[in-house]
Amino acid sequence: MIDLILRGGNLPDGRHGVDIGIAGERIVAVEPNLAAKAGREIDVAGCLVSPPFVDAHFHMDATLSLGRPRLNRSGTLLEGIALWGELKPLLTVEALIERALAYCDWAVARGLLAVRSHVDVCDPRLLAVEALVDVRRRVKPYLDLQLVAFPQDGYYRSPGAPEQLRRALDMGVEVVGGIPHFERTMADGAASVRALCELAAERGLMVDMHCDESDDPMSRHVETLAAETVRLGLHGRVTGSHLTSMHSMDNYYASKLIALMTEARLNVVANPLINITLQGRQDTYPKRRGLTRVKEQMAAGLAVAFGQDCAMDPWYSLGSGDMLEVAHMGLHVGQLTGLEEMAACFRAVTETPARIMGLDGYGLAPGCYADCVVLQANDPVEAIRLRAARRYVLRRGRVIAEAPPAVSRLSLPGRPQAVDFRRAAATASEKGRAPG
Ligand code: FE2
Repeated sequence: MIDLILRGGNLPDGRHGVDIGIAGERIVAVEPNLAAKAGREIDVAGCLVSPPFVDAHFHMDATLSLGRPRLNRSGTLLEGIALWGELKPLLTVEALIERALAYCDWAVARGLLAVRSHVDVCDPRLLAVEALVDVRRRVKPYLDLQLVAFPQDGYYRSPGAPEQLRRALDMGVEVVGGIPHFERTMADGAASVRALCELAAERGLMVDMHCDESDDPMSRHVETLAAETVRLGLHGRVTGSHLTSMHSMDNYYASKLIALMTEARLNVVANPLINITLQGRQDTYPKRRGLTRVKEQMAAGLAVAFGQDCAMDPWYSLGSGDMLEVAHMGLHVGQLTGLEEMAACFRAVTETPARIMGLDGYGLAPGCYADCVVLQANDPVEAIRLRAARRYVLRRGRVIAEAPPAVSRLSLPGRPQAVDFRRAAATASEKGRAPG
């Protein structure tokens, strides 16, 4: 018994004209010309049907707080952290929940159905933890929210952070975070990485640390994180977020480090929108881009995802939950214009972060949850190029968001009346033309 069929869509792996049959909450068939009939059928010919977008790095406790209590005048990371410190005493659980739910609405409309959010534990009241644990429960029917206990002001530098971080885990936060480059010294940073990885190993949890989010070519916390991962047998369960110092490192050292990261199966989350704006601020010219070495990490076989990181908060005035915008920026800043690299940029906002987060039942195969987004684009590269319209968003077999096609009407003599920015099919004259 099939409830819904999406007819004739293109899939991210290159298959065209595929029907997807859905029964209840699950996908039950993925094949061309599915003979069955269903109560509802949606024609998705010429559209890309993808598993939903996934954001493996976000700060939902700060989102949509732009301007409270004031704007970030310099636009720098350090003023952002200071500003967040000014906002923290003014936070209320109600306001945190309201802003987070508003962002989740945006996310759903964009086809973003899973988010890993860091939550600051350097407030003894742990209001943000209380609020986001509640938000996680409320949004569960339509969005998977995974929380990271994040000591924003430093695990050792912020009094009370070790105890508060443990309390946050006891309250149901699932992942251990950290920020070694913000500790007082390199030695404190390394000690925090060791302590936090040991805590994760003891509790059987994953790790996701803000690590070396600086322009310092001598910062060595990625190395410590990878080495601790190996020492504690946490292979594949540890993620390094940002890793921007790698941009500035000596090439020989970076090649040695990437080999160590590969041994540890360290996951990487780069945040291109934020780091292209925040890094290199003390440079004159040339100015460093500050994105970690995505091309080389991908080539080494590491799982590399792109995260949104911020949307309208003390660090970033823009952002809208659009993971195609994130992929678009990552592709450009990382010069990832090779054919396979562009495809990897699409995976960096879909299946790769899903794997990093350990999402259950994710994908477009029989047995997976019927969660997907229908994009007005022929293929993944075109989806990035157009930041394509989300025609339909499905969660557990139900359409939970939809939007009309993006089409412009023209009034030009001799020209078509409507423009759709997808690549047109080859014309008869082109098909007949000899190569070269
Ligand atoms: Fe972050």
